[in-house]
Amino acid sequence: VSPVTEELVRPEELPEVDINSAKFISEPWSVHEIADARGVVRSDRGLEVYTYKGCQQLFTNKALAIGFDEMYRATGFPDGPVFTSAVESINNLEGERHLALRKTFAQFFTPDRVASLRPVIRNIVESLARDAEQATTCDVMALAGRVPSTLFAHLVGAPASDAPFLQHCSEELLKVFLMDAGNHDGVERAYADLSEYVADIISERERAPGDDVVSHLLAAEGEGVIGREDVIYNTTALLRASTDTTMTQIGNTVALLVEHRDIWLGIGAGQVDVGRAVMESVRLRPGAWRILRVAREPGAVLGIEVSAGTCLFGLVPAAHRDPDVFTEPHRFDAEREAPKPTLNWGQGRHFCLGRPVAVIEMEEVVSVLASRWPRMEPVGAIQSTGRPDVDRITELTVEIAGPEA
Ligand code: HEM
Repeated sequence: VSPVTEELVRPEELPEVDINSAKFISEPWSVHEIADARGVVRSDRGLEVYTYKGCQQLFTNKALAIGFDEMYRATGFPDGPVFTSAVESINNLEGERHLALRKTFAQFFTPDRVASLRPVIRNIVESLARDAEQATTCDVMALAGRVPSTLFAHLVGAPASDAPFLQHCSEELLKVFLMDAGNHDGVERAYADLSEYVADIISERERAPGDDVVSHLLAAEGEGVIGREDVIYNTTALLRASTDTTMTQIGNTVALLVEHRDIWLGIGAGQVDVGRAVMESVRLRPGAWRILRVAREPGAVLGIEVSAGTCLFGLVPAAHRDPDVFTEPHRFDAEREAPKPTLNWGQGRHFCLGRPVAVIEMEEVVSVLASRWPRMEPVGAIQSTGRPDVDRITELTVEIAGPEA
């Protein structure tokens, strides 16, 4: 937060947006029409930053906090183990402890390890697709959810049969992002169940270390780089960071691609670059709708005078359609020249450490399904959450064979 200077505007002077309006929920990029010079509007939850450059500045601003404290308090956890495990996890920590954790995770997710995960992920997807082919229709979100949760089981050295339990915990825990006290009990139960599970895994890995992420964290503890509580909090954090997020993005990507049949068919036939198509779908329909930052002290952010406690939301879907950055921002163009990096993995010191893994998961789901089910068609309307915080498909059942061409 920079010191306050003369030219700053006060939040009350900014245009206001109703984040619960149908227009904002269905077309969050419509805030560009308001065209405030600062690229910021106010809402009843704080300030909404909607330009690409503004989001970059927001995410990389070292004076702003990540805001897990605020999210957990809003969900009814002002303190206690649920609160502590989250605010003291890699996602929310700063300084030396954050760096030690980032380094530890980066030494596990090396480029070689990430490359070695591709065949593992492909096997998971192929096996789920084969199972789905026993029926004529497939619930794509169920399949999407099973990919990252099975991969998480693999990463911690647990059996694939743990995936439904892990998926359920992740889904509940991530509800803190909705900042709604109504989710308190579900989050608390999921945390209690997951803590017990993580404690068992840690004891097992202490007895018999393997080539898994928990053994890797325990080795870093042995070297004095991190502490025991870091191992516990960050095994939980890894589940929260990797599972529901990836399921959401896989769903959004598949939903968008089935609406662009030519691209779906092109991927299936090997004529369209799956990596580019996936990234363009992330641009147009990012699962991470908004990324939070919080001002802990009064000062200036993006030319606005902010008070301590102000929440600033980086509106990723709006930034991804910033007309100053993307030509024809609403067009699905799988061959964009020099595409700008998407922002839904953040940017700066907390940039997502699992981005390459998430991208492989998306690519494998899309390429396996597009080649096995080129004529796949949605049954009924595709439904989504319709909330101003996360854009997630809630209903995407497809007929596997689709109509004859
Ligand atoms: C499409 C799926 C995913 C999305 C949208 C996503 C998004 C994000 C975002 C927005 C952040 C915070 C960035 C910030 O505050 O600036 C983050 C952090 C993180 N993500 Fe992901 N993520 C995904 C998948 C994964 C996967 C698969 C893993 C691990 C295998 C992972 C591990 C992490 C970790 C460890 C952090 C904390 C980094 C830090 O704070 O230093 N994520 N992710």
